[in-house]
Amino acid sequence: MIDASATTTGVGHGKVILLGEHAVVFGHPALAAGLGATVRAHASPGGGTLSVPAWQLEAQVGDDSLPGQAIGRLLDRLHADKTSLDFWLESEVPARAGLGSSAAMAVAVARAVAARTGAGEADVLDAVAAAESVFHGTPSGIDAAAASRGRLGRFDKQHGWQDLPLASPFELCVGLSGKAHDTGALVAQVQALCESAPVARKLIDAMGDLVNAGAEALAAGDLAALARLFNMAHGLLSGVGVSTPELDDMVHTARLAGAAGAKLTGAGGGGAIIAFAGEHGEEVLRRWRAKGYYGFITTIGHV
Ligand code: MEV
Repeated sequence: MIDASATTTGVGHGKVILLGEHAVVFGHPALAAGLGATVRAHASPGGGTLSVPAWQLEAQVGDDSLPGQAIGRLLDRLHADKTSLDFWLESEVPARAGLGSSAAMAVAVARAVAARTGAGEADVLDAVAAAESVFHGTPSGIDAAAASRGRLGRFDKQHGWQDLPLASPFELCVGLSGKAHDTGALVAQVQALCESAPVARKLIDAMGDLVNAGAEALAAGDLAALARLFNMAHGLLSGVGVSTPELDDMVHTARLAGAAGAKLTGAGGGGAIIAFAGEHGEEVLRRWRAKGYYGFITTIGHV
């Protein structure tokens, strides 16, 4: 039994979706990878404050802010008191940038609570899903699964997450547009498009086909094929209206700098892109910086 006065800690990972965002909401599979960048939550006896200095976030569990509501719902699911713990979070994951910050936060907090109560990983995931529905309405669950696994994997709504083996790790450039986005609104926008213009479903289905081709490319270690699939996926995501001038600019800048493939990642509408740039990675970052975009290189398959 844990000493009630102790501080407990939980960790969640940021993520990138390699292929299949938005299509995953419609039941298709998607490929995603956890990032080395994490959110670390420390839970200690207190009065229900939630503090994330890296995001300039100060809230009270259960207040009417989205994080306050989400963590309140998470604690309800874990049968934990909303007013007896303080949460202080360190984040290496930028907020609302397409890198799964809300899911990483929820996983970190749920694990910090579970370390006190003995709740199992299934209860943690259930609580994270409850928190994510506050942020995103009807999420597929891929962000929560990637945030908890921190690895490369395949996800679909029916079967959940499956780790994928990788012959050797590879590097991706991640570029941030600097524009925050609202995942729930973008998911609703794509759903509305498919209702008003049913032909858009064919683009969604094609995204699902790209995921299957991407899984084959990864299994064969064919990164050139994966890069080509990134380019096709970006075209389809633009087709359903979730790209922006900044995201398109970053994608084209990366390709001109030598990246073999580049696409938006996550919900779009702002947020982030990923580029497969091989030895041109530093040049991609340099050209993004020259245009005012922040980027970094991450290794996929590091664990
Ligand atoms: C967001 O990271 C991914 C989306 O497919 C939404 C979801 O799967 O819940 C856009």
